Amino acid sequence: MRRKLAAGNWKMNGLGAGLSEVAALKAAHPAPGVDVLLCPPATLLARMSEVAGDTIATGGQDCHDAKNGAHTGDISAAMLADAGASHVILGHSERRQDHDETDNDVRQKAKAVMAAGLIAVICVGESLDEREHANTLQIIGGQLAGSIPDAATAANLVVAYEPIWAIGTGKIPTLDQIGEVHDFIRDTLERRFGPGVGRSTRILYGGSVKPSNATEIFAVSNVDGALVGGASLKAADFSPIITALEQA
Ligand code: 13P
Repeated sequence: MRRKLAAGNWKMNGLGAGLSEVAALKAAHPAPGVDVLLCPPATLLARMSEVAGDTIATGGQDCHDAKNGAHTGDISAAMLADAGASHVILGHSERRQDHDETDNDVRQKAKAVMAAGLIAVICVGESLDEREHANTLQIIGGQLAGSIPDAATAANLVVAYEPIWAIGTGKIPTLDQIGEVHDFIRDTLERRFGPGVGRSTRILYGGSVKPSNATEIFAVSNVDGALVGGASLKAADFSPIITALEQA
């Protein structure tokens, strides 16, 4: 059985005052029936981890692939763990675009995350141009092959399918399109890592998940939860998404 996961990516949003949203979320879900994860900016991670306690897991949004060293401005997986993180989002399309991160970069970072005992949430997804003019599954297959290290297990890997054109746009793929990609990711994981790991690894959908569309998305096969951006910033928005996942 795959335990469902409601994950929030705060991106470059959130100051100390925003931690009241975490307290509110915890109060609304004192014993959630699904895993709940929030990934704040690194500046908030330690404080958020204290507020979140054992109820809500916390994670980073990126890390360096080295343990430490002369890398000004960078943060290692061990540092994120030290600040309370259990997960690290890697290869988000915004990092692939803003920082030219390649599949190889993501794979090296994922190795570091797994070696530090953390869970890598590896993001894949096609652009609108790729969706319209290329073979989406081929694009996703290439990203999976290049970004996921051989060290992956069902315990240290979560895959997030985030079509770039659905992020922050209010547009989502059709449910058939989501199902097609999630089934493909499941098959790909089973072929590479064997049925045990393949069937047990969680696959999240991300891109404009809202309280209003969460229930229908969570009913799609092989959708084990969501990676939520904008709607994870406020407890009033994220809470009904958690509830929808609990009821899925
Ligand atoms: P939105 O939910 O704001 O579309 O963002 C999705 C996302 O990129 C999560 O990582």
